[in-house]
Amino acid sequence: MRKKVIIANWKMNKTRDEALDFIYMVNDKMPDQNKVSTVVCAQAILLRCLVKRQGDNLRIGAENMFYKDEGAYTGEISPVVLKSTGVEYVILGHSERRNLFMESDEMINLKVKAAINHGLKPILCVGETLEQIDDADKVIDDQLRKCLDGVSDISSIIIGYEPVWAIGTGKSADAKIAEDRISKIRKILNDMYGAVSNEVSIVYGGSVSPNNIRSFLNEPNIDGALIGNSALDPNKYVEMVLAAIE
Ligand code: 13P
Repeated sequence: MRKKVIIANWKMNKTRDEALDFIYMVNDKMPDQNKVSTVVCAQAILLRCLVKRQGDNLRIGAENMFYKDEGAYTGEISPVVLKSTGVEYVILGHSERRNLFMESDEMINLKVKAAINHGLKPILCVGETLEQIDDADKVIDDQLRKCLDGVSDISSIIIGYEPVWAIGTGKSADAKIAEDRISKIRKILNDMYGAVSNEVSIVYGGSVSPNNIRSFLNEPNIDGALIGNSALDPNKYVEMVLAAIE
C-alpha cells in the first residue's frame, strides 16, 4: 500500500510572516508521517526559516533549482545549497517553469539527476495543455521518458500529473480521467523500471480543493495531490491532509 502524499505548492505567494503563521497553525494538526506524507513547497528565500520551524510531521520542499552545483549562473539556486537548508523535496518541471521560463524536458532531466545526486526528492511534474488534450497520452509519455532519461533509480521520485488547463482555473480534471492518465503513467514507469513502479507515488494537481479532493484520493492509482490556491489557507490544507487518512 502506497502512503498518500499531500503537497502544497505556494508558488510566489506569502510573505515570511504569513508563511510562519501557516506553519505554526498546521504543525500540531499534521498526522503521523507514517500515515500520510505532508509537504509544503515555498519560495527559496523562505525555506530556511520554514525548515527551522517545521513540526515533526511536516516536510519542506523547494519549487525549483538549477542543475549545476556552483558557478556563474546569476540568480539560480544550487542543489548543494538547497540541500544544506534542510529541505527534503524539490518540485521540478512545473508547467509554470516550462511555459514562463522556457524550461525544456532536457533541462528538467538534468535537474532531476542533480536532485537525486544530492539526496533531494524530486516532485516531477508532467501534463498536457488544452491544445494538446487530444494527444495527452503521447505528450505525457514523451515528457516522462525525456525527463527520466538516464535516471536509474526512481525510488525517491514523486510524479505530479498536472493538466495545465486545470491549474489555477477552478476546473479540475474529472477524477476518472485523472485516474486513467495516472494509471498510464504507472504503466510507462513499469515499462521503464519494472516492479518498482508500483511503489512510486503519483499525485494529481490542478484545482484540487477540500470539496473535490476525496474524489481523487478514492482512485486506486492516485496517491495524493499537489495543490496551489487551496493550500494557501492553513485550514483548508489541514482539511485536505485529514481527508487522506479518512
Ligand atoms: P491550483 O491548485 O491553484 O490549481 O495549482 C495547482 C498547481 O499548479 C500545483 O503545483
